[in-house]
Amino acid sequence: MNAFELYNPTKLVFGANMVERLGELVEPYGKRILLVYGGGSIKKSGLFDDVMFQLGRIGAVVHELPGVEPNPRLSTVNKGIEICRAENIEFVLAVGGGSVLDAAKAVAAGALYDGDVWDFTIRKAVIQEALPIGTVLTLAATGSEMNGNSVITNWETKQKRGLGSKHIYPRFSILDPKLTYTVPANQTVNGIVDIMSHVFEQYFTLTTDIPLQERFAESVLLTVIENGEKAIKDGTDYDARANLLLAGTYALNGTLPNGVTTDWATHGIEHEVSAIYDIPHGAGLAIIFPNWMKYVYQERVGKFVQYAVRVWGIDPAGKTDEEIALAGIEATRAYFTRIGAPATLGELEIGDEHLERMADEATQFGPIGSFKQLTKDDVLQILRNSL
Ligand code: NZQ
Ligand code: ZN
Repeated sequence: MNAFELYNPTKLVFGANMVERLGELVEPYGKRILLVYGGGSIKKSGLFDDVMFQLGRIGAVVHELPGVEPNPRLSTVNKGIEICRAENIEFVLAVGGGSVLDAAKAVAAGALYDGDVWDFTIRKAVIQEALPIGTVLTLAATGSEMNGNSVITNWETKQKRGLGSKHIYPRFSILDPKLTYTVPANQTVNGIVDIMSHVFEQYFTLTTDIPLQERFAESVLLTVIENGEKAIKDGTDYDARANLLLAGTYALNGTLPNGVTTDWATHGIEHEVSAIYDIPHGAGLAIIFPNWMKYVYQERVGKFVQYAVRVWGIDPAGKTDEEIALAGIEATRAYFTRIGAPATLGELEIGDEHLERMADEATQFGPIGSFKQLTKDDVLQILRNSL
């Protein structure tokens, strides 16, 4: 097991109607609030009114940054930063999915930085401070509610990049499973694939003798596989939504990578696809991940055998390790297809025009991944296999 540090300061407030706690959670940070939200789902569901009511109870002065896009854009983040500066904002409140949370984090860091917030993504500057952030999450997917990461897209240069810091962990996140009842089936699917992919990035590792981390990861996968299908079938199944929501948080809140060398190559590749084609992150991952698995499994067949047997219940009797490993990968693809996720870039009308550029960008700082270090040519091959 590698040496590691675990740091997570986010207070998780989980359960039905927990938005009632919003005022009391925000109050210590000040009354001048920037409320960040997306394209309108929170207005349709009534959550916007509930949030405004709770903020009204503490006499908050609320400014708004509406219209955060899925794959949130730098231009929108910059609008938020301007509001923070002009209005002396003290606290940034994100209400929505991962995109809204990520935009709010970038706004919070950019507001206290003299230069361009994009600097944080290109390693030109390091986040030294940020306005405090809180979130009300409405979609199980990214884990952004309990981590210090944000992913934003520079639409002008077609680059999607991450920024991260201990300063942009949410101070609190409210997770009410009922708020995810209105998530449409296709977004539920994208979330399921994203959560599973976060586990894969940390589970497929060359680090050995890590039974606790492996069983944590397998239990998150099994929970998502089971409850994901239930949530798609019945969007108002409270327990299914609750289990999915909590699994999403645990998949990326710093629990799974303890002492483990993680991979993250597939996320790097997917970000290049969505930077150009603006596709949902989960859809891109559903296409690419099984192809990454097929490309790399021979680096450590035993880990894929364990995955096949423990997660998909593949019967090893009479099969070679190679066959068991491949059966696990096929089971992954079959599950994604069964829940309605795409399997090829072609299904999203993406051809081979920009594959070269994507592979270049993905490897601009050198080979990516650790299970197998991928060069530009490897990335290109995985993308071609995904067409
Ligand atoms: O914009 P609104 O109207 O709110 O609608 C959203 C959006 O259209 C809708 N939605 C959200 N909650 C809803 C709802 N519709 C009905 N009812 C609700 N309760 O869902 C659509 C997608 O929302 P989005 O926030 O984009 O989805 P997600 O949470 O999957 O976030 C994706 C973004 O997060 C990044 C991705 O790259 C992508 O940009 N990631 C962030 C990570 C992080 N910060 O740690 C890690 C991830 O790997 C990922 O890269
Ligand atoms: Zn992801």
